[in-house]
Amino acid sequence: MFKNTLLKALNAAADEITKFNDLDFKISNKEGVNNLVTEVDHASEKIIIETIKDAFPDHYILSEEIGELIQDSQYKWIIDPIDGTVNFAHRIPICCISIGLEHNGKMILGGVYNPFLNEMFLGERGQGATLNDKPISVSKKAVVENACLVTGFPYTYLDEPNGPLEVFDRFIRRGVPVRRLGSAAIDLAWVACGRFDGFYEHKLQAWDSAAGFLLVEEAGGRVTNLKGDEYSPYKPGIVATNGIIHDELVEWVKGNVPKQS
Ligand code: IPD
Ligand code: CA
Ligand code: CA
Ligand code: CA
Repeated sequence: MFKNTLLKALNAAADEITKFNDLDFKISNKEGVNNLVTEVDHASEKIIIETIKDAFPDHYILSEEIGELIQDSQYKWIIDPIDGTVNFAHRIPICCISIGLEHNGKMILGGVYNPFLNEMFLGERGQGATLNDKPISVSKKAVVENACLVTGFPYTYLDEPNGPLEVFDRFIRRGVPVRRLGSAAIDLAWVACGRFDGFYEHKLQAWDSAAGFLLVEEAGGRVTNLKGDEYSPYKPGIVATNGIIHDELVEWVKGNVPKQS
C-alpha cells in the first residue's frame, strides 16, 4: 500500500523531470551563488506531494523546498524532489528523486530513482533492498586503503577543524580514491549496491539521506554519525559503509589514520 504510493510518486516526478530534457527551465539561487533551485525542483515536489496527499491526506510531509505540512501523524514522508540540483541544472545525469517514509520515528520505506540512468532503488525495513527489482548488497572490501569512497561538500563550514576539506585531504594524500558525485541520495544508493565501499559527509539534511540510509542498512551495510554513534537523519554527519570497513573509516574521519604500510 505504502510502496505503491511511493512508486507512483517517484514515477510521476520522473516524468515531470524528464519532460525538461529538451526544454529550458528557470534556475534561481538559494542562500549562496551556486546553491541552486530550478522550476523543475518545484514541479517535481508538487506532483510528489499531490500523489502522497491523494493516498494519505493525513500524513506528515517534510520536503526540501516547501518545508513541513501536516505535522500530526505517525507517518512522515521525507522528500527531496531533485537530489543533485546542481548536476541537473548542468544537465549532468547524476541526480534523482529521493523519498523516505518514517513510522513513529523509524524509517520503514525508501526509494531513490535516477530517471536518467533508469535506476530505481527501493528499500523496505526487514525486506532488503533492490535495484530495478533485483536484490542488491554492499561490497566486501575489507580495508579503507583499498576502498573506493564517495563524499560531498557543504557550501559553508569547509575549513572547520576536522571539517570536509581536512578529511578529504587525508584520503587523497594516501591515494585513497574519494569521488564527489553531487547527490547524497545516489552516493548512498551506490554504497548499497556495492559500487562504493563507503560514504561520509559532514552536513546533510533529512531529505538528502532519509531513503538512502535505509537502502544501505537493508543491503547489509552500516550507517552511523561521524563519531560512529547511532545515526539520525535529523543530525548533519553521516558515515555509511559495507559494514566491514565501518569502524576503520570512522577512525580515518576522526583523524586516526593508520601508519603507511
Ligand atoms: C545536495 C546533494 C549534495 C550534498 C549537498 C546537498 P540538493 O542536495 O545531496 O550531494 O553534498 O549537501 O545539499 O541541494 O542537490 O538537493
Ligand atoms: Ca538543494
Ligand atoms: Ca538534496
Ligand atoms: Ca533537492
